Amino acid sequence: KGGKAQFVIDAGQKHFGTTICKSCGMIYTASNPEDEVQHLQHHHRFLEGIKYVGWKRERVVAEFWDGKIVLVLPQDPSYAIKKVEDVQELVDLELGFHQIVPKCPNKTKTFLFIDEKRVVGCLIAEPIKQAFRVLSEPSATKECSRAWRCSDVPEPAICGISRIWVFRLKRRKRIARRLVDTVRNCFMFGCFLNTNEIAFSDPTPDGKLFATKYCNT
Ligand code: ACO
Ligand code: ZN
Repeated sequence: KGGKAQFVIDAGQKHFGTTICKSCGMIYTASNPEDEVQHLQHHHRFLEGIKYVGWKRERVVAEFWDGKIVLVLPQDPSYAIKKVEDVQELVDLELGFHQIVPKCPNKTKTFLFIDEKRVVGCLIAEPIKQAFRVLSEPSATKECSRAWRCSDVPEPAICGISRIWVFRLKRRKRIARRLVDTVRNCFMFGCFLNTNEIAFSDPTPDGKLFATKYCNT
């Protein structure tokens, strides 16, 4: 009874009884009032945070048919810095990072992927001198996914990617790939960085999957 209808309703939903908001991407249980309140709060804050009105002087470093990449530097006007801070706050909230203490804020470069009037991707890069290479896949325990084994020997590197994030509803459209390509091209004037000169700090499972794929292709 109701078997087929149920199947249709569940298609495209991640878990039983959950909904994904088509504008903010939050996955929540619509039948749960607490969840709904949480969604409404997140919805407004998120859409406000990623809203991009366009700046008179924006540093466009790459253009595509479906968007463009804008670079923000620490000395930029306060409206640009404010937007970067707002986006980073949303990203950190999603990643569960609590304290943001950039190591050298005056050298941080933030790349925003803009589609229409929204920031749908963000990459924060900073200069580094060394990185520890991730050695191999951790053993079958998928759950402790942050415990990648790293080498004890630091290797020289140039660019550290401290955050990379793409709006949930815009993933798997090569936005992250294009952000990293652009960083490699723009981070150091006049040279295109090799993949072993960039390093992803503390990658999440998504970040690891992406980085592995990116660095091998
Ligand atoms: N699972 C498996 N493979 C993946 C995944 C994934 N979740 N994400 C990317 N890849 C691989 C795929 O091979 C993909 O190519 P394909 O789609 O043709 O198969 C390739 O990487 C390129 O992917 P993109 O489309 O460029 O990646 P996307 O724009 O979806 O962004 C990102 C990837 C940034 C990791 C996104 O999933 C995200 O924002 N996740 C949540 C935030 C997060 O965890 N960020 C990383 C934190 S670590 C750090 O910041 C240093
Ligand atoms: Zn929403």
